[in-house]
Amino acid sequence: MAYETILTETRGRVLLITLNRPKALNALNGQLTEELIAAVQQADADPEIGCIVITGSAKAFAAGADIKEMQSATYAEMYAGDRFSAWDRFAALRIPTIAAVAGYALGGGCELAMMCDIILAADDAVFGQPEIKLGVMPGIGGSQRLTRAIGKAKAMEMCLTGRTMDATEAERAGLVARVVPAEGLLDDALRTAETIAGMSKPIAMMTKEAVNRAYETTLTEGVRFERRVFHAMFATADQKEGMAAFVEKRPAKFQHR
Ligand code: CAA
Repeated sequence: MAYETILTETRGRVLLITLNRPKALNALNGQLTEELIAAVQQADADPEIGCIVITGSAKAFAAGADIKEMQSATYAEMYAGDRFSAWDRFAALRIPTIAAVAGYALGGGCELAMMCDIILAADDAVFGQPEIKLGVMPGIGGSQRLTRAIGKAKAMEMCLTGRTMDATEAERAGLVARVVPAEGLLDDALRTAETIAGMSKPIAMMTKEAVNRAYETTLTEGVRFERRVFHAMFATADQKEGMAAFVEKRPAKFQHR
């Protein structure tokens, strides 16, 4: 499928998606949202793809939802169209996703990064939920995911004042997995993605599901879920291969099933 607002490139078992509305700092308009979600859903279902990397430009990962597109919308239009609900499909992805963030990740851009499983930040990355300055608040999960990621104190301050966080603070706060020099960001993200894509895809999907369960449930239920899924992994060919490879002192060759 030909996309106009994103670039896609397959590198081995990794799908690299580059947000590509440079003149609007990759603002997430309706078209970009639909194209991005179509591309990631296709990869989710593709056994040949084991991980997705989403990146932007050197200046902006994404500067938010498209303000110009929504500025004159009415309540009825926002409600009837259930604006932003399409992103639930992104959050429901089972394939592992990495956000490689350089420059601005503001508003919906920060929210998109937080919907990814791992955020790798360039040392010049800037995170924020500045919607309050526009007379609104986060609308793609920011008030919830930021609070879960970095705790109430910082999330509340950021959402109420619109102040941004640099990469160092974001790492200290637990929002990002690692900070890397801007020039090495994409290579690092692709290497990390290759590592993940080299694992068994179903096992990686189940692992993602188990970690995410920690956000949704009690510890007792989460541990029970983990144990049941752990048992289920013994029905996969890749568990047999992974353990046989260890015993035979050779690298595992996963069949991703
Ligand atoms: N929507 C639409 N257009 C945007 C945009 C956005 N979120 N962010 C930037 N742009 C556009 C600008 O309007 C500008 O276009 P023109 O050249 O046509 O004027 C172009 O991108 C370049 O932007 P700037 O000239 O502003 O660049 P800068 O370097 O001076 O500033 C910036 C960069 C600080 C990121 C600034 O662009 C900015 O503050 N952007 C808005 C950030 C924001 O408020 N994001 C939240 C959006 S609402 C949201 O996301 C709701 C939600 O939770 C779902």
